[in-house]
Amino acid sequence: MTGTFYVVGVGPGDPELLTLKASRILKNCSCFVVPKGRANGSSTALWIVEQSLSIADKDIVEIHFPMQKVRMGETPAPEVSAAWQKAVDAIITRLENGQDVAFPTLGDPAIYSTGFYTCQTLQERAPQSKTVIVPGVSSISACAAAANVPLCQGDDMLAVVPATFNNDKLRQVFSTFQTVVLMKLHRVMPRITALLQELDLGNKAVLIEKTAQNEERIIHDCLSRQDKLHYFSTMIVRTK
Ligand SMILES: C[S@@+](CC[C@H](N)C(=O)[O-])C[C@H]1O[C@@H](n2cnc3c(N)ncnc32)[C@H](O)[C@@H]1O
Repeated sequence: MTGTFYVVGVGPGDPELLTLKASRILKNCSCFVVPKGRANGSSTALWIVEQSLSIADKDIVEIHFPMQKVRMGETPAPEVSAAWQKAVDAIITRLENGQDVAFPTLGDPAIYSTGFYTCQTLQERAPQSKTVIVPGVSSISACAAAANVPLCQGDDMLAVVPATFNNDKLRQVFSTFQTVVLMKLHRVMPRITALLQELDLGNKAVLIEKTAQNEERIIHDCLSRQDKLHYFSTMIVRTK
């Protein structure tokens, strides 16, 4: 096997937040394996790349990764591991042909990204393969910048958690950390609103939707919002 597999963080959407390194590697890779959350949908990571690079000559393999919870230490749902294996089948074929393969992923690969699972699956199946992780600007940093709030200062502690955690777990997190970033909010916003009210944190929260993309919204009066949120929504709560 001579090709290299790159998991490339492409930032939250704004093409200016695609790093020079990511851009160079994407230009040099002949194949892109791209994740998409809906079988009939399109890949946001690819849309981000296309804003600044031509993909006309790329061998593009789209893989649908079902949006299902993956719990560390537990066996993932069969359709989830099937998607990882399908992606790795495509990657191994190209690497064996000597092609370099990129897996563009939204934001940074180290934060709730399918890219790392794919990379780990590749390493299990082909331990000799060369893999490189290319960091990207996370939506967390982009949201903090857009909302003009720090994530941590001085002796603050920062927690990044899925909003889908149950309320008991979230109460624990809110009582321990000075800044809490809630991701994957869109389906659970009514429960989170009620919890923030209970903990008297409503005025400490800011909701950021589609940052660095079209139609970015920054919402300070989160508790009064009833409208449906986009999947790309993140909340930053400064508990102090
Ligand atoms: C599967 S995680 C991917 C995180 C990504 N790896 C990163 O570093 O930003 C998806 C979650 O990231 C957040 N997110 C991603 N892009 C966003 C954006 N442009 N604006 C606000 N939140 C975003 C949302 O909370 C969304 O539910």
